[in-house]
Amino acid sequence: MAAFLEDVKIIENICLGSRYYLLKVKSEKIIKEIKAGQFCMIKPLDNALILRRPISIHNIDKENGVLEFYYETVGKGTKELSTLKAGDIINIQGPLGEGFSINIKDKKIAIIGGGMGIAPLKELIKQVNKENKVVFIAGGRDKYAFEILKNINFKNTIVVSDDGSIGEKKNTVEKLKEILEKENINMIFTCGPHIMMEKVAEVAHKNNIYCEVSLEERMGCGTGACMGCSIETTKGMKKVCKDGPVFNSKEVIK
Ligand SMILES: Cc1cc2nc3c(=O)[nH]c(=O)nc-3n(C[C@H](O)[C@H](O)[C@H](O)COP(=O)(O)OP(=O)(O)OC[C@H]3O[C@@H](n4cnc5c(N)ncnc54)[C@H](O)[C@@H]3O)c2cc1C
Ligand code: FES
Repeated sequence: MAAFLEDVKIIENICLGSRYYLLKVKSEKIIKEIKAGQFCMIKPLDNALILRRPISIHNIDKENGVLEFYYETVGKGTKELSTLKAGDIINIQGPLGEGFSINIKDKKIAIIGGGMGIAPLKELIKQVNKENKVVFIAGGRDKYAFEILKNINFKNTIVVSDDGSIGEKKNTVEKLKEILEKENINMIFTCGPHIMMEKVAEVAHKNNIYCEVSLEERMGCGTGACMGCSIETTKGMKKVCKDGPVFNSKEVIK
């Protein structure tokens, strides 16, 4: 699939509290092709960074031609991005990578997001909830990590937090195990810290449930040219930017 370079105008770039931001841009080209689980390489300012930064697609609003990204400021690139305002123009490259398997029907699906791993799950939930039954387990550090749920606005969401300050006091894997005792889940999709996805995959494998994980690696080019994001899989070396970021958990997690 072709990837485009597109200058897009910022519609909104709002702080949701703490270091979390919701970015909305107007797109004509990328929006036509991008799918849940894919990402864009974003260049905050014209002359600043040499390397673009990978950010997942959070929501695709085709009706209004708006793409949404949800990001956390961690370093130079994302901090620069957070200074931009409505009306500013940024250059984005996409759609990149392989997304989640969304062509499914009549399944019971558990979607599990931890922290920033919630970012690519809004579009996924929207897509797969049409013809399947979805339960969404969202886990995070503090209340700010959950502000984004207002934008996701999905009824069947279960919130869990480590300190119990919001939602139930447990982790996402404990919650998943609880759900599996009561419900016959056929598929699991997850994105979050690597250790969380490892545990989720372990539970999925034990219960013989198909599971997809969305991996994060530091990226140089984002398009498969630099080999910077190569990982070992059961099918040999693969590039997270091109072959992923979404993989069948059995390929990447024992
Ligand atoms: C496919 C993909 C999708 C992503 N989607 C999102 C998203 O939707 N929202 C979001 O907030 N972030 C996302 N990320 C992570 C995001 O790309 C990094 O946070 C960002 O590149 C950091 O850039 P920076 O210039 O702000 O920080 P830098 O100055 O480059 O780094 C600051 C700190 O962040 C760490 N870091 C940088 N890049 C990564 C990375 N890829 N994985 C783990 N740690 C990293 C560094 O080790 C360092 O400690 C995604 C990453 C990938 C690979
Ligand atoms: S980031 Fe360059 S090959 Fe993946």
